[in-house]
Amino acid sequence: MTDLSLDQFQKLTSTIYRKLGLHFDDKKIYFLKTRVAKRMAALGIDDPQQYVFLINYADREGVEMQQLANLITTNETYMFREYEQLQAFANHCLPEVLAAKHARGDKTLRIWSAGCSSGEEPYTLAMIVQEVFPQVSTWTCEIVATDVDENMLRRTRAALYGERSVKEVPDQLRAKYLVERGEEYVVRQRTAALVEVRHLNLNDRLAMRTMKNFDFVFCRNVLIYFDDISRKAVVDHFHTALNKGGYVFLGHSESAGRITPAFRLKRFENHLVYMKE
Ligand SMILES: C[S@@+](CC[C@H](N)C(=O)[O-])C[C@H]1O[C@@H](n2cnc3c(N)ncnc32)[C@H](O)[C@@H]1O
Repeated sequence: MTDLSLDQFQKLTSTIYRKLGLHFDDKKIYFLKTRVAKRMAALGIDDPQQYVFLINYADREGVEMQQLANLITTNETYMFREYEQLQAFANHCLPEVLAAKHARGDKTLRIWSAGCSSGEEPYTLAMIVQEVFPQVSTWTCEIVATDVDENMLRRTRAALYGERSVKEVPDQLRAKYLVERGEEYVVRQRTAALVEVRHLNLNDRLAMRTMKNFDFVFCRNVLIYFDDISRKAVVDHFHTALNKGGYVFLGHSESAGRITPAFRLKRFENHLVYMKE
């Protein structure tokens, strides 16, 4: 284990915060020590001071910060997570947005899964869209799945999942959307094809500005690792990225209302969602 001093820990966490928006308090010192130890071993560095210097001053291209990011993110996810919230999407928000677009003659649907981890969320959204709106095959539909963790993006592209990831998939949808491959399940091609996977750091202002014209943004169980300031910046970007009448879905314990008045709060089936007016 590396001997990271409190001062070195704080230097590292302030750079991590600046680059990724992630907030690590002093209680996380052991967690960070174990991750830094891995990176130091990989780089053949013995002195933690040298690693702190590398991250703070010698990592102009962000290559080492990316390696560290791959180790410090929390990636817990599974398909159909927070099922009731997804029902609010499937039964109310999605039909409402589709009807409004249909009335305008606009046959595009764009959804962003921001902080998609290994892809269970975007593929869940793809299944719901195909289930609720089979005519989507005649529309231009794109579900953009983004994450900062390169290992997770690789797994999203593979679209191959173990039992733990698929345990909440309703029985009637399993065979329709997933194919068994040995002990695992692969997402069927016509569903996987709706999902486009991209690297994106939610704390990168320039990259965030390129995200536009979305009807829905899902950013669930991501902003809990941010603080109020970095969280507000991200939610403000979501507001810009959404079309009028579009919705943002946050995780269970996260609230946009507390950090920005920009959205209209709506309640469906006991779930709060945020609409751009
Ligand atoms: C707990 S997972 C949530 C997955 C999924 N949205 C869900 O609710 O099941 C959080 C994800 O957010 C990603 N993340 C954390 N900080 C990020 C950042 N600055 N930019 C993009 N993604 C980030 C992590 O890599 C991780 O995969």
